[in-house]
Amino acid sequence: MFTTERLILRPYKQSDVDELLTDLVSYQTQLWTNPLFITPKSPKWREDWQKALEAFLFHAVLVLKNEPDKIVGLLVIGMSPRETKNRNGELGIALLPEYRNQRFGPEVVNFAVDYGFRGLGFHRMSLTAFGGNERALKVYERVGFVKEATLRKANWVEGEWQDIIQMGILEDEWRDKKKGSESISV
Ligand SMILES: CC(C)(COP(=O)(O)OP(=O)(O)OC[C@H]1O[C@@H](n2cnc3c(N)ncnc32)[C@H](O)[C@@H]1OP(=O)(O)O)[C@@H](O)C(=O)NCCC(=O)NCCS
Repeated sequence: MFTTERLILRPYKQSDVDELLTDLVSYQTQLWTNPLFITPKSPKWREDWQKALEAFLFHAVLVLKNEPDKIVGLLVIGMSPRETKNRNGELGIALLPEYRNQRFGPEVVNFAVDYGFRGLGFHRMSLTAFGGNERALKVYERVGFVKEATLRKANWVEGEWQDIIQMGILEDEWRDKKKGSESISV
């Protein structure tokens, strides 16, 4: 079973999709997650989104352990086919608004990194965040990701340029962090 301290990670069900997308396509959440044009999304887009979700190596809906009908968010872990040789996993996370700012982020990212190295055999894990998403950057740094590249003024957000930050963590760094503790706490 895929679990963290407070969450169960389970496969998505058709009935989850509307609930997840209500927020994921909201204007504010797209400002943090979508580098493309932010526009209203059609039913066809929703179908394509679902196909893209299934194409990830790992995708899970996060629900509360003590109230499993409450959806907390979504975690995806992918590896592009051309990266197979290099064993570079990429992760993405989005929590629904009512579950933000309660430290679910580090709990889930911590799980993703641990499972990525222990279970999926990655050598490194990476992610991309927008410079304006200070909350996300804090979470990733807290878990152990380091900034590896800054694409300067690469994202146009509501009338101004923001940087796009690429972050990564290596298997060795994760092992060092884990040394001496059976389960990582952040
Ligand atoms: C980004 C996200 C995963 C973070 O997880 P979270 O559980 O909400 O984060 P936390 O509760 O651990 O809070 C992280 C820190 O950011 C701080 N923070 C919150 N809002 C902030 C803001 N506007 N500016 C700066 N820091 C902020 C919190 O106080 C906390 O700091 P602290 O731990 O030192 O007190 C989650 O908020 C989310 O899914 N957001 C929407 C989608 C998104 O941005 N996804 C990531 C794309 S890269």
